[in-house]
Amino acid sequence: MQLGSNDRLFVLTGAGVSAESGLATFRGSGGLWNGYRVEQVATPEAWEADPVLVWQFYSMRRRDATAAQANSAHFALARLEQQMGDRFYLCTQNVDDLHERAGSHRVHHMHGSLFESRCTHCEQPFEDRSLYESASKMPKCADCGSAIRPHIVWFGEIPLNLEQIYAELDRATVLLVAGTSGSVYPAAGFVHIANQRGIRTVYVGPEEPQNADAFDEILLGNATEVLPTIRV
Ligand code: OAD
Ligand code: ZN
Repeated sequence: MQLGSNDRLFVLTGAGVSAESGLATFRGSGGLWNGYRVEQVATPEAWEADPVLVWQFYSMRRRDATAAQANSAHFALARLEQQMGDRFYLCTQNVDDLHERAGSHRVHHMHGSLFESRCTHCEQPFEDRSLYESASKMPKCADCGSAIRPHIVWFGEIPLNLEQIYAELDRATVLLVAGTSGSVYPAAGFVHIANQRGIRTVYVGPEEPQNADAFDEILLGNATEVLPTIRV
């Protein structure tokens, strides 16, 4: 894939980009964790019903992401940012920090960040790498005493900073989507917005996403093989 010197690139990544770092995708694992459906641990209802279970799930994900290493797909995107500067925008659905650890600076985590938490009352997110794995260890806000929750966008919640995302999409000339099944909205709809604007749309992944018909080009292959071949 070749980009021109006037192109503005909007990149959307999903779980497939971190798959080769050993982090399970959602649909690939059958959507299961320890016998629970993802909906049973990644929704506001799950948090209401069983915050200990929810924190055990995100503690495990913190542990897994900490142990993982960025792969050549993450590095390829960091290199593109270096080459393109502010003509490059990276929006990820991933909550891990592997893009940052590969050297990406301007990363927007639309579904939140694994290594941030926030008070359910004060709402202000803060960096947090702790593991909360038992009922006696549930974190409370030092200021107001309310429960601290993962700074994650759960099913049924609204992604972060959608306005900024749509503004970037509005001025992009190329949309590159990598490693996402195209099944979770609004991210799965970015390609439709791009099509309304008539810009070039490219998908990268080992199989066609659910919204495959909407893309101009589908580059079938693993993210670690295909993303390093992009030239500017
Ligand atoms: P999915 O698990 O739905 O899709 C992962 C995609 O990655 C699939 O399309 C695979 O074909 C592809 N894939 C697998 N291995 C790959 C590789 N080596 N290189 C490139 N692609 C590969 O994950 P997402 O689409 O990211 O939301 O899921 C979207 C959202 O649904 C997540 O952010 C999460 C989830 O529920 C929230 O938590 C709000
Ligand atoms: Zn508080």
